[in-house]
Amino acid sequence: MFEDLELITADSILGLMAAFRADPDTRKVDLGVGVYRDDHGETPVLDSVRTAEGALIAQQATKSYVGPAGNLGFNAEMEKLVFGAAHPVLAGKRVRSVQTPGGCGALRLGADLIRAAAPDTVVHVSSPTWANHVPLISGAGLKLERYPYFDPATGGVQFGNMLAAFEKLPPRAVVLLHAACHNPTGADVSQDEWRALLEVVRRRRLLPFIDMAYQGLGESLEADAFGLRLFCAELPEVVCAVSCSKNFGLYRERVGALHVICESPKAGDAVLSQLVRLGRGMWSMPPDHGAEIVRRILVDGALRGQWEQEVLGMRKRIQGLRHDFVAELAQHCPQRDFSFIARQRGMFSFFGISTAQVQALRAAHHIYMTDDSRINIAGLRKDNLAYVARATAQVLAA
Ligand code: LMR
Repeated sequence: MFEDLELITADSILGLMAAFRADPDTRKVDLGVGVYRDDHGETPVLDSVRTAEGALIAQQATKSYVGPAGNLGFNAEMEKLVFGAAHPVLAGKRVRSVQTPGGCGALRLGADLIRAAAPDTVVHVSSPTWANHVPLISGAGLKLERYPYFDPATGGVQFGNMLAAFEKLPPRAVVLLHAACHNPTGADVSQDEWRALLEVVRRRRLLPFIDMAYQGLGESLEADAFGLRLFCAELPEVVCAVSCSKNFGLYRERVGALHVICESPKAGDAVLSQLVRLGRGMWSMPPDHGAEIVRRILVDGALRGQWEQEVLGMRKRIQGLRHDFVAELAQHCPQRDFSFIARQRGMFSFFGISTAQVQALRAAHHIYMTDDSRINIAGLRKDNLAYVARATAQVLAA
């Protein structure tokens, strides 16, 4: 049966992870996969996570199944974290949540739910968007199209073109939006722009599918959820895929949630029944370990305070690196303006160099980034900023 299967190349991000690991050069710099790193280049277990996990291991009485919607305490705490405890969808009992294996599980489950409701739906994604949005959404059988988003000339969003594209979409088209810290560009829409998008989305009766994978790593836990909270307060239906990989540092534990805002509690019950059925057909029941760690952190005042400080620490480090990197680049590459990097948010920026220059950085300087020149800012360190800036100057001059 498998004789005729062709060998396919690894996904660009996964391929880069493998190439970086295999590179023996001690100067190597990993600006590829989106994981947070500290000043030693490590991705440490957060202290709040370590404490919660220790207590969990000491106290857990069973490994029996958690149930098809996952850890219900986790779901309830995530709703408060994502929407804010006083959000009207919580009081109106209009949100239905299931725990998923990571943000990817949430994206796939959300796409499957949309397909169950309306199989001909087209999902419109930003140009560019996170590479894995494509297989996650098309794997559910939905068509994918792109709307204008990133403006390479400014390093910001071409908001006028984005809005004009939304104006032309038919009712019930799905628009996939990044809540904050846009992956791969780092260019986010402003609060005023979220308000303007809301007006078009409402008038044209579009369905927003919001991916929030970086809450807390852009501006704050609250501000990064601004657009998501606004849309959920104002629209009858919104699908929200949330990841705990980055802000809790729980990457390999695969912790995420899908929250669906429904028009009424009755519609919500049907949605939840569908989500449970769809999840059952893919992973049956989600893994509990990471979700229980998150729940324990969110319900415990001291642990939660500690976690919020740790998120703040990650955010401040990334913001600091953005400014320091721009200064270093200004010194080594004065002919080129990289100041957009300091205006962008979250882990990523589009460096704005050609694929040939990306490959030259990899081959000659052991600096790894995806071919489209996405860089993970958190992969920089104080002691390699100058090295990366000098290498960039060399490939730009070649
Ligand atoms: C990334 O964009 O690098 C991360 O979200 C990791 C992944 O799975 O691609």
